[in-house]
Amino acid sequence: MKERILSGMRPTGALHLGHLLGALQNWVTLQNQYECFFMVADWHALMSEYEDPKEIRLSGQRMVVDWLACGIDPEKSVIFRQSDVSAHLELAFILGVLTPLSWLERNPTYKEQLRELSARNLTTYGFLGYPILQAADILLYRAAKVPIGVDQLAHLELAREIVRKFNSLYGGDLVEPMPLLTQTPKLLGIDGRKMSKSYDNSVALGDEPEAIFRKAQKMFTDPKRIKMTDPGHPDQCNVYSYYKIFTPERHREVYDYCSNAKKGCTDCKKDVGKVLADFLGPIRERRNRWLASNGKIEEILQQGAQRARSAASETINQVKKMLGI
Ligand code: TRP
Ligand code: SF4
Repeated sequence: MKERILSGMRPTGALHLGHLLGALQNWVTLQNQYECFFMVADWHALMSEYEDPKEIRLSGQRMVVDWLACGIDPEKSVIFRQSDVSAHLELAFILGVLTPLSWLERNPTYKEQLRELSARNLTTYGFLGYPILQAADILLYRAAKVPIGVDQLAHLELAREIVRKFNSLYGGDLVEPMPLLTQTPKLLGIDGRKMSKSYDNSVALGDEPEAIFRKAQKMFTDPKRIKMTDPGHPDQCNVYSYYKIFTPERHREVYDYCSNAKKGCTDCKKDVGKVLADFLGPIRERRNRWLASNGKIEEILQQGAQRARSAASETINQVKKMLGI
């Protein structure tokens, strides 16, 4: 029997290259080695978007389109929406009862998000409990491993602490999940900061070629290369790192013309736009096909929900038994 893994993303807007490199490419390969559950974390989205939650549902469906376009396969993996499986909230409540406030308050991600998303009031009971719901997501499926990025490590560590406390209080046998960290190339946004929708510096998976060219043209380059006759320093140029990631076979050529001042940055950026547009071409095509297949996405989510519900209800029933409730 294959080991089980679970991962999820919050549906808060269009997915971009950072999601592809940091998670989706990895998920696609994991599908062959593991029994995979991929979850649209819409309750988690609600925690930050509660003032205006109307976009969450459509964002979730769009996110699944992106997943499918990148190669997540509903024949291999369970694709489902958190809110379709009510056991997530039940288990989160139970885990919340036994989680000390101090564990939540010291969570570095919580503190960081409060700072970063300062436009919204996130000093809520729900948002503080974010990692409790995440723990429930994982424990409900008895997932042995959780593919995540380093930014989620603190949440997983908390989940492990919560399981240990649950098991020791009730003699339970819930599984302590391990992180599955994968090495992914670091891809920065077009302005050189972390790629993020909120910084408006990302290339979305669904961007049209014209939008990609425009963004490529705006990319930050080696600040020391002012005139075309100045030799550049590719290792200090974000554009060069895109070549390394998306056309490994061409990066030597770029290194050469840049460091020997044989080609200017404007042309170099024009080319990188083409590289990205070509790279995203097949994804965009599959995306458009899924977008046109009205109803198919919701059908996949409903099939996934059935499979998820049957796995989750087994655990929640056992948990209630362990509690004697
Ligand atoms: N917190 C995760 C994120 O923001 C999303 C998430 C929710 C998740 N539940 C999960 C990830 C369970 C892994 C496992 O990216
Ligand atoms: Fe960067 Fe290309 Fe300009 Fe070199 S030529 S500094 S790699 S944009």
